[in-house]
Amino acid sequence: GTLAERTVESLAKYITNGKPKKIVVMTGAGISTSAGIPDFRSPDTGLYANLARLNLPYAEAVFDISYFRQNPEPFYTLAHELYPGKFRPTITHSFIRLLHEKGLLLMHFTQNIDCLDREAGVPGDKIVEAHGSFARQSCIDCSRPYPQDELKRHVDAKSIPRCDHCKGLVKPEIVFFGEQLPAEFFKNKWLPSQADLCIVMGTSLTVHPFASLPSMVREHRPRLLINKERVGGIGSGPDDVLLLGDCDAGVRKLAAACGWLDELEKLWAK
Ligand code: OAD
Repeated sequence: GTLAERTVESLAKYITNGKPKKIVVMTGAGISTSAGIPDFRSPDTGLYANLARLNLPYAEAVFDISYFRQNPEPFYTLAHELYPGKFRPTITHSFIRLLHEKGLLLMHFTQNIDCLDREAGVPGDKIVEAHGSFARQSCIDCSRPYPQDELKRHVDAKSIPRCDHCKGLVKPEIVFFGEQLPAEFFKNKWLPSQADLCIVMGTSLTVHPFASLPSMVREHRPRLLINKERVGGIGSGPDDVLLLGDCDAGVRKLAAACGWLDELEKLWAK
């Protein structure tokens, strides 16, 4: 293997040994749960376990484009709760920023739509929002963009926005099941093959094509999983390192091993 041992200490040595490293980070809802945003699939606290009140045929329907066409209400009920602005980045988001400050971040691939990485100071050109975000919205029929403040007004009022031009349904540019991922995903998806290290955090790696990104990392390039549970077969490779548990605790452990903990805490406290 590339690492002397499959431990955080060995990995920290690999990161800080003086040779510049290209790190690719891949994240999901688990990095934002400590900010107060539920993930999707955790048994009791996840969004899909708590949607009974929305009377959906199945939980994922709330993010399904054909279901949305027939009944946009459940999504807009949820949008009211999830709309960005009321949440603060976690120390895990700040850790991604720290990697950028140190010149180590090649790209952050995220499935999250909460924009907390941007808020933590990760620059937009280092982020691939694979499942879109609440940053833009448009008509699902004629694709015309719809103004952000108008959308916000509807979300606040729990009403359903319609296109001014064709009266089609307006939807934030979040990727729903049945929709294509954004072009920036396909433009950048080969980047993991250039990485010296891949860090996967807070995702169940169940939704494709995102879930296949870690498998693009080359042999003898370490992969670190910081997650409550083992996912995606990470842990079986000779250079895979597992930090099972809370991701905020995990990034603190890695930062400490690199000698960056004070810097990280300061960055997060700002
Ligand atoms: P999931 O809910 O599927 O997975 C979250 C993962 O994070 C699980 O493995 C949890 O155990 C773990 N987790 C939760 N809190 C954690 C914490 N504090 N520390 C460490 N680990 C934690 O969420 P995603 O993988 O993001 O897509 O889901 C992928 C996609 O499915 C979403 O982007 C969304 C959803 O349907 C669409 O809607 C298209």
